[in-house]
Amino acid sequence: VGFSRQEYWSGLPFPSPGDLSNPGIKPRDGGITSWLARWLPKTPAKSVVALKTSIKVELVTGKTYKWCVCGRSKKQAFCNGSHFFKSPGLSPLKSKAQETCMVAHCTCKATQKPPYYDGTHKREQVQKAELGSPL
Ligand code: FES
Repeated sequence: VGFSRQEYWSGLPFPSPGDLSNPGIKPRDGGITSWLARWLPKTPAKSVVALKTSIKVELVTGKTYKWCVCGRSKKQAFCNGSHFFKSPGLSPLKSKAQETCMVAHCTCKATQKPPYYDGTHKREQVQKAELGSPL
């Protein structure tokens, strides 16, 4: 004993969608599409210049550090989670210290040796950039 899909649906005690009155409800602009675009951008946000100096930090053997890649952390040179809302698509660079030592970390976010300072902030392009703006 079987019945077709049409018979099944027509036997339900609900009106078909075409018989419903228009409730006047419209989906919000963008809906899920704009939400997804916000949290999963096609291109990640750009890093911004946090500072134009290096910051010396002491690394402790075995401890994991998260260097801020986006430049929006208020705890430079480390991540404070600001990238989550302010720079979707970017995430911190994690590293585990192999030995206890002092190092200079980059804060202009243009270093060629992240997370370490390499003198890039002395370049004219970085020096002319506004703090908080991308290069
Ligand atoms: S706040 Fe910049 S990477 Fe997390």
